[in-house]
This record gives sequence, C-alpha cells and structure tokens, in this order.
Amino acid sequence: MTTKRTPFIAGNWKMYKTIAEARQLVSEMIPSLQGVSGVEKVLCPPFPDLLAVKAILEGTEIGLGAQNMHWESAGAFTGEVSPVMLAELCQYVILGHSERRAYFGETDETVNRKVKAAIAHGLIPIMCIGETLQENEAGTTQQVLEKQIMGGLVDVTLPEATQPGEVNFIVAYEPVWAIGTGKAATSQGANAVVSDIIRPTLAKIFGSQIAEAVRVLYGGSVKASNASEFFKQSDIDGALVGGASLKVEEFAPIVQAAAG
Ligand code: 13P
Repeated sequence: MTTKRTPFIAGNWKMYKTIAEARQLVSEMIPSLQGVSGVEKVLCPPFPDLLAVKAILEGTEIGLGAQNMHWESAGAFTGEVSPVMLAELCQYVILGHSERRAYFGETDETVNRKVKAAIAHGLIPIMCIGETLQENEAGTTQQVLEKQIMGGLVDVTLPEATQPGEVNFIVAYEPVWAIGTGKAATSQGANAVVSDIIRPTLAKIFGSQIAEAVRVLYGGSVKASNASEFFKQSDIDGALVGGASLKVEEFAPIVQAAAG
C-alpha cells in the first residue's frame, strides 16, 4: 500500500525571538512561504510570542505550534501552560524534544501524558524521539527509539484523519547528536531508521495502515543546502528545523524543497 503523505515542515524557534523580533521575522517570512503549495508549514515560537504571531498569520495557510505544554487542563502548576490555553492559540505542539528530556526531566511517561492531553484537546502532537551519540555508538538506537515510541504512546488512541491517508499525529526523529551540531545524519541513514525502526514500531501499536499514514519528520542540522536530500527519501515526510528556521533565507528554501 502506498499512502501519499503531505510534506510537513515545522520551525522550532526554541528560546529565541522577543515579541517584536517574532513579529518582524514572521512578516518577512509570509511572502516567501505563502505561495508554496503542497507542503504544510508551521512555526513554533516561544509561548510569549504565540498571540502576536497568531494575529499576523491570520488568513495565511501557515500553521502555529507551541514547544511544550503541561498535561493537566488547569490547576496549581506554577509556570506551566495547559492544553486548553494552547488550543485557543495554535494547532500543533512539539512534545518530548530532546532538550526537554535532557534539561527538564521529561520522561517517556510525561511525554505520554502530554500526547494524550494534546489529542484530547484537539492539538496535533509532534512527538520527538532520538538517540544520543553514546546510545548510537553503543548500537542501541533501535532499543532506545522503540522504548521512546512505545512509552510515549501507551493508551494513545489517534483521532480521525482530517484528510485521506493522514493522521493527526506527527513523529519527529531527531538524533540528539545531530541537533545544533551542524552534523546532520545522512539522508539514507535517517530514512533507514524511519523505515526499519520507527514505522514498524508504529505498526505494532496502531497497525500498518496508520503507521504508513503518520508523517515522520527528520530533525537535526537541517538547512537549505541539505534539506532536499532528506525529502527525496521514501519515508521522511519533512523536517523539524531549529536554527535554520530563524532565517528567512534558510527556512524558505527548505519549505520549497519539501514542496518538490
Ligand atoms: P537544529 O536544526 O538547530 O539542529 O535543531 C533541530 C531541532 O532541535 C529541532 O527541533
């Protein structure tokens, strides 16, 4: 069975850009992203920027996402942001990014709670997985990724597809050693991980039809000069872009490359 998956590019701005800077960047990006069809494009700025960016994106086909959230709808959780709050602002949420796992104590269990809460509130999770350099060199990539996927998806039921062959759940494969290092994975290597490990694990959980319909992105040092290599691969459906998403002259060509 072949399912045509719509390419998907998200920019993870991480902890960059004030509101004023965000307004400027998005205004610069809109003209170069708007005309590009056949690819979904999403910007994920920091929380304080969401409202301002939402207003600027109004009437465009560019989606908006957050970078994290709590799993509870409301409560005494100082400093946290709930899915109910995000659902008013955006459509997507990045969950389980390796920086959150490494610096903020995220575990497969907390990622799982967040994935369930996001789906329950109509947000589309972009669930991040990836092995560290040490795990990669120890030859444990498969075990690590299987554990992250199975653990993140305990008791997860996926919502109805919005379009034929498409599921409102996205996986981002981001090998930790490739993030922010300038040392991207090879496109063939990343594709092999997706086709030999990630989709088969998704198939064990949801069945092969859904496993084929889920968009799987690659992330880690994606830039204008290497993006098209990844998008030529059979099982990579787009990218989660960090540093290069903060520059129009880098991000726009990446989006164009995904459109084919
Ligand atoms: P870089 O593109 O800066 O390597 O970051 C990747 C990433 O972490 C996206 O979530």
